[in-house]
Amino acid sequence: MAIRIVREDGDEILRKKSREVEVVDDKIRQILDDMVDTLHNYNGVGLAGPQIGLLKRLVVIDLYDDKGPIKLVNPKIIKQKGEQEVEEGCLSFPNQFAKIIRPLEVTIEALDENGKKIKLKGEKLLAQAISHEIDHLDGILFVDKIIPGTLQYVEPDDEKNK
Ligand code: NI
Repeated sequence: MAIRIVREDGDEILRKKSREVEVVDDKIRQILDDMVDTLHNYNGVGLAGPQIGLLKRLVVIDLYDDKGPIKLVNPKIIKQKGEQEVEEGCLSFPNQFAKIIRPLEVTIEALDENGKKIKLKGEKLLAQAISHEIDHLDGILFVDKIIPGTLQYVEPDDEKNK
């Protein structure tokens, strides 16, 4: 278990395209576990490979529901439907939030942590998170999609000082 450093806005790795993972081995499983630990440490809902400095098509998502952390290798959207206007942020852009348009429903194919092919359908928040994280794998950031005039800078809360 290890918490990795999250790369932030201005780090050019966030703009690069990630490569497919060819073999899902122990090393990949270790990275996925570290990504989940990192995600939880930052209280985030999703994290992608480039955000911890790895140009690998790896994504973890946790909506803190009964689905638990979802670990995805080489996720690919095969179908999407509808749209939703959502409030969104990103661990690589601390304290920034904006409104953007995301698909309402997405279906993806991916490999799970055992290298098994899976299909997953997500709606609403899960569709938003999947779409946000897959964008990261292609160097696309939520700030590229902001509805003009909706970007807000929120002061960090004082939790760390309590
Ligand atoms: Ni993000």
